[in-house]
Amino acid sequence: MSETETTQTEEKRSDQPLQTTAGETEEETRPEWIDYRFDGKSKLTSESLDVFYGDDHAIKGVSMDIPENSVTALIGPSGCGKSTFLRCLNRMNDRIKAARIDGSVKLEGEEIYQDGVNLVELRKRVGMVFQSPNPFPKSIRDNISYGPRKHGDIEKGLVAKLLGRSDEEKEDELVERCLRDAALWDEVKDRLDDNALGLSGGQQQRLCIARALATDPEVLLMDEPASALDPIATSKIEDLIHKLSEDYTVVIVTHNMQQAARISDQTAVFLTGGELVEYGDTDKIFENPESQRVEDYISGKFG
Ligand SMILES: Nc1ncnc2c1ncn2[C@@H]1O[C@H](COP(=O)(O)OP(=O)(O)OP(=O)(O)O)[C@@H](O)[C@H]1O
Ligand SMILES: [Mg+2]
Repeated sequence: MSETETTQTEEKRSDQPLQTTAGETEEETRPEWIDYRFDGKSKLTSESLDVFYGDDHAIKGVSMDIPENSVTALIGPSGCGKSTFLRCLNRMNDRIKAARIDGSVKLEGEEIYQDGVNLVELRKRVGMVFQSPNPFPKSIRDNISYGPRKHGDIEKGLVAKLLGRSDEEKEDELVERCLRDAALWDEVKDRLDDNALGLSGGQQQRLCIARALATDPEVLLMDEPASALDPIATSKIEDLIHKLSEDYTVVIVTHNMQQAARISDQTAVFLTGGELVEYGDTDKIFENPESQRVEDYISGKFG
C-alpha cells in the first residue's frame, strides 16, 4: 500500500469511528482499566475465567478481584454474561449441562474449582438471591429454618421433642434475627405461620434474602434482585443491601444504572462478547470512565 492510500484510510477512520453491530465503538481494552486496587482484603478472585456454552464463548478471560464487606455491581447490556459470571462464583453453572468453565475462582485464596470441593458447603458460604422471588410454598418461619434444618443445625419435630433435643427456641431466635436483618420482621412478626406465598412481591424478595442469611453465608450473590419490584419495595431492598455490606460481601447484577451508582462501592462493566472492560470505584466509572465504550454505554448510546 502506498503512503497516500494509508493516509486516506486513516482519514476515513477518524471521520467515522468503526462500530460493532451492537453500536459499540471499536476499541482495545487496556489491562489497567480492570486492574482495580483497593485497601482491605479480597474475598473472591477470578483469574482468566472463560465460560463456553457449546461453541458460544460467553465469558472471555475475566480476571477480577472482589473486596470483602462491600457491594460490587456488575453492569452491561443484555447477553454480555453478567449472570453467567455471577453463577461462576458459587459454581451454579455446574448445573447447566452445556456450560464449560476454564480458569480459576478463589474464595479467600482457596480454589473453588478444584476436585473435592463440597458444593453444598460452598453454596452455604456463597448464597444466592434470584431475580424473581421464589419462596418455598411453606410458612414464613419454615422458609427461614428449612436450610439450617437440612444442614442439621436445627433439630425439630416429634422425635427431637421426645428425645429432649428440640431446638424450637433456637429456631425462633434464628427466624427473628434473619427477618430483622432483612428488614421484614415488623411486617410479618404476627403471622410467621402463614404461607409465604401470601406476602407481596417486595416482601417475598426480602424473605428470600432472609432465607439466604439463615445459613450464615459470607457472600451474597444477587441477580437483579429488585427488577420485578415497585419503587418503594426497590428502595427497601437497596437500603438493605447497603446495610448488609457491613457484614457480608455483596455482588449484585443490575440493569438499573442509577441503582448501581446508588448502592455499590465498585462497579464492573461487561460489554458484548463477555469481556470485562472496566472495573473500579463506582464514582470513577460513572463520572470519568477510561473506556469510550463504557462512557457510551453509561450515557445510553447503546445497550
Ligand atoms: N443456559 C444457557 N445455555 C446456553 N447459552 C446460555 C445459557 N445461559 C446463557 N447463555 C448465553 O450466554 C450469553 C450470556 O448470557 P447471560 O445470561 O450471562 O447474560 P446477561 O448479561 O446476564 O444478560 P441479561 O442482562 O439479559 O440477563 C448469552 O449469549 C446467552 O445466550
Ligand atoms: Mg442476566
